Amino acid sequence: MDKISPSEITPEHLFFSRRQFLTSIGALVASSVLFSACKQQDVLSDTVTSDGCESAYASKSTDELGDDLTPCQSIINYNNFYEFTTEKEEVAYLARDFKTTPWTVKVGGLVNKPQTFDMDDLRRKFPQEERIYRLRCVEAWSMVIPWLGFPLAELLKEVEPTSKAKYVSFETLYDPEQMPGQNNRMFKWPYVEGLRLDEAMHDLTILATGIYGKSLSPQSGAPIRLVVPWKYGFKNIKSIVKIDLVEEVPVSLWMAAAPDEYGFYANVNPNVPHPRWPQSSERRIGEVSRRKTLLFNGYAEEVTHLYDGMDLRKFF
Ligand code: MTE
Repeated sequence: MDKISPSEITPEHLFFSRRQFLTSIGALVASSVLFSACKQQDVLSDTVTSDGCESAYASKSTDELGDDLTPCQSIINYNNFYEFTTEKEEVAYLARDFKTTPWTVKVGGLVNKPQTFDMDDLRRKFPQEERIYRLRCVEAWSMVIPWLGFPLAELLKEVEPTSKAKYVSFETLYDPEQMPGQNNRMFKWPYVEGLRLDEAMHDLTILATGIYGKSLSPQSGAPIRLVVPWKYGFKNIKSIVKIDLVEEVPVSLWMAAAPDEYGFYANVNPNVPHPRWPQSSERRIGEVSRRKTLLFNGYAEEVTHLYDGMDLRKFF
């Protein structure tokens, strides 16, 4: 996000006309209630790939606002994952051989029961649910994604945060041999992100392991990533290996790189312009005209109370 990449200045319709989209998504239920309609999933064996991207999926076709799901092909071919490259259209190719098994997530810091989980542990212990969320990047594009995952709160309860724990810090794998972008000295690696403990415990906050009914592919942050739908996309850290409960605000990769542009909170707010991208509107991937950005990305009812007494006009 440090500079405008060629994909950013390619008109949307040209970029997407190069992609072969599946136009029909199995639509079964038209319920407007999202969160109560979560579906238990079996352990995932299949990974999402370009072939048959949506083949296992026959759940819903819209989010709770009635917005169409973004086609799976778009979700896995237009990515921000700076560990591989800053070019959105090249991430999928460069990440194709990224090794995600075996994989462990070490959870510790200010907790009573520090533990290291492997992916099988996580899938067995925490039933996978479907959550259809809008993803809003600070670059002012957005998608609607049917994630599979489980509430982060479930994992945190398992390790028992102590009363000193105020924040949660997350880290991506550091492996410059597999992730050539980590040789880019402009950033302080590994990618780090953070949440306040109450944000982390909120039911909307999930650790995602899949999309469209299958396991995440590398470009989407396999095998496990954070999804916090009311915050800008960069908070949604990918390929997590470490989670720590801490007392002080964690300094994220973006806060370290450009503190005036990327704050800790990063709540989606159409009333607060970013120095480089207007935030009052956005382009939904696959749509021609722009749409208005919603406060907290449309989740205001669920999360506004978290920020009582705070000045939301301050950037982030
Ligand atoms: N996580 C890591 N480790 N590295 C990254 O570069 N990019 C972030 C976020 N998580 C990023 C990351 C940004 S800027 C966005 S918008 C989202 O991932 C994009 O997720 P997507 O590629 O699955 O759409």
